[in-house]
Amino acid sequence: MLDQHNHRRAEYDVDLYSDDAILDPYDHYREIRDRGPAVWLPCHDLWAIGRHADVRAALAAHDVLISGRGVAANDEVNKIANNNILATDEPAHGKLRKVIAAPVMPRGLAAVKERIVVTAQEMIDRLVEQGTFDGMRDLAQTLPLTVVSELLGLPESGRQNMLRWAAASFDALGGANDRRDAAFPTILELREFCNNGATRDAVKPGSWVAGLYEAADAGLIDADLVPQFTRDYIAPSLDTTIFATGHLMYHLGQNPDQWDTLRENPRLIGNAINEAIRIEAPIRGFTRYAAADYDVDGTSIPKGDRVIVLFASANRDERHWDQPDRFDLHRVVTDHVGFGFGVHQCMGMQLARLEMRSILEAMIERVARIETGAPVFEVNNVLRGYRQLPMTFHAA
Ligand code: HEM
Repeated sequence: MLDQHNHRRAEYDVDLYSDDAILDPYDHYREIRDRGPAVWLPCHDLWAIGRHADVRAALAAHDVLISGRGVAANDEVNKIANNNILATDEPAHGKLRKVIAAPVMPRGLAAVKERIVVTAQEMIDRLVEQGTFDGMRDLAQTLPLTVVSELLGLPESGRQNMLRWAAASFDALGGANDRRDAAFPTILELREFCNNGATRDAVKPGSWVAGLYEAADAGLIDADLVPQFTRDYIAPSLDTTIFATGHLMYHLGQNPDQWDTLRENPRLIGNAINEAIRIEAPIRGFTRYAAADYDVDGTSIPKGDRVIVLFASANRDERHWDQPDRFDLHRVVTDHVGFGFGVHQCMGMQLARLEMRSILEAMIERVARIETGAPVFEVNNVLRGYRQLPMTFHAA
């Protein structure tokens, strides 16, 4: 197929948001990487960037590949999704981020660390006693649903709905399909809650959302934007970490030698967490809008087109990683893009890391062997993770 300048452009006719591609995306990502640095996806009217070096460069080029017109793979959602932190460009983005990120920066996290550590220890004690359990419901969900949801400070009705709202928010950010359409009523519910439920009087004093109202009082953010930023806390703070924890458990269960290594050498915990997020990026990809022509290693993406930046593909790019499909604790993995890269890099990654680290530290003392069975995957337009993961702990 020729582009507007009569250059041949690489294409790939695939629906990346079909059930099959969601459940088994990696062969499609390899095909995209092999076909070219930027590949046109006619099914979605999108370019795809899948190679590690090109993904990092694209994320760094935030003044050309912008987020301010939304990061979804469908126009309807991009039209209504502006104003939140994910979909704001510099210089406004940097100023806002400083304000809303305060609770998940080191000082904010220090205040909650002890609670996270103790909750993780109690949970692992319970699960060792129990022996066999569902790794998602009984383990991965525990810290996000108990500690993190409380830190946000939402009234009880909000806390109960967080997982449903978060899953729908990510479904809406994918392609224009039935799953996206089915998410709309739930998204409206979330918006209604953020506008009229999570009000100043209803949220817990001292909580993250209460902090947003204080920031508005101090003139640091526009008071009208508090509901938007409340969504920035609700949507990405649970499922992402829950899924990453599930992947971490699964891979440690499948690689008992690596669990032994981690127990002998807990200094590798940080690496284990990064490696789990590398091998199964919980957010598979988000899009950007080309505000000007953008060159990807010789392929030009014209101004006005949209491009999906595939974090999950970059993390398995054989041009960058040796044996990318292998979970390896010893890999130098600091440049994975599972948390994104550049100005929009994950705001909550220190919190996610703290939760996962607390679980592993508690397990190292108490669990000699992890058994994991066949996981059941969720089907979500953007997220990758399990609904269920059969697990057994053998006590140390
Ligand atoms: C393992 C868990 C997590 C993963 C894999 C993850 C992944 C990501 C990724 C890939 C991005 C980049 C988006 C982009 O470039 O467009 C991002 C941004 C973001 N994440 Fe996370 N995330 C995780 C946990 C969390 C948590 C716990 C929070 C809680 C506050 C959070 C809040 C955010 C926010 C607000 C942004 C937008 C930042 C911005 O636009 O400046 N995330 N995350």
